[in-house]
Amino acid sequence: MARGDLPKKLIGGIYSWAADTVYEPLVVNGAFRVFGGTLNDLVRRQGLDAAAVADGRPILDLPVGTGTFTVDIAAASRGIVVGADIAAGMVRQTKAAATEAGLSNLIGVQADAHRLPFRDRTFASILCTNGLQVMPGLSETLAELRRVLTHDGKLYVSVLNMPLLSAPGAPTLFLSRPQLKRSLEAAGLHVTRLQRERLATLLEAEPSGK
Ligand SMILES: C[S@@+](CC[C@H](N)C(=O)[O-])C[C@H]1O[C@@H](n2cnc3c(N)ncnc32)[C@H](O)[C@@H]1O
Repeated sequence: MARGDLPKKLIGGIYSWAADTVYEPLVVNGAFRVFGGTLNDLVRRQGLDAAAVADGRPILDLPVGTGTFTVDIAAASRGIVVGADIAAGMVRQTKAAATEAGLSNLIGVQADAHRLPFRDRTFASILCTNGLQVMPGLSETLAELRRVLTHDGKLYVSVLNMPLLSAPGAPTLFLSRPQLKRSLEAAGLHVTRLQRERLATLLEAEPSGK
């Protein structure tokens, strides 16, 4: 097991358990609404924008969670939508949601954000929804997302963060909005839009110097 894999396995295990139980009622319909206000609506808007930008080319949603937002993206997309997550239970729920919605273009893949099993420049749109705050290793995740994004692609990010507590090197949850933006820029992603909603921050970015 590589260094740093144990915390990731633990996080994956916890989310796998939550996928079938508390995740949607307590997190999606609870915490996201309390701390993020209209975050869920804004995330769904990002998904539709991502489908329009991709225009039939592949889309990645990482981490996919239970696929609650991803089914809408797949329904709006003519191309393949890959939902990836480290938690097997989340991938299982996503596959079930795709089957229930009759969406053959939504594919669930178990994968670690730090080692994505995709070729360079595979995806024309990437969504990273409510994920960065719970994944250790922000720069590794952003480097992988940048690697698999096409040169003319777009990255849509949403995070819950508490900027008031920000400190250099702090987990993403405590980063300020400028620090978050600087992290994306350091990964070669030019931020074209930053939106606030209560404790949530939504960003859009594209490869720098395209
Ligand atoms: C708060 S949920 C967000 C899921 C979904 N995007 C949503 O908004 O409902 C965070 C997700 O990150 C996943 N995750 C945590 N660490 C990960 C990693 N290293 N690689 C891939 N997924 C990870 C968890 O399994 C969990 O499903």
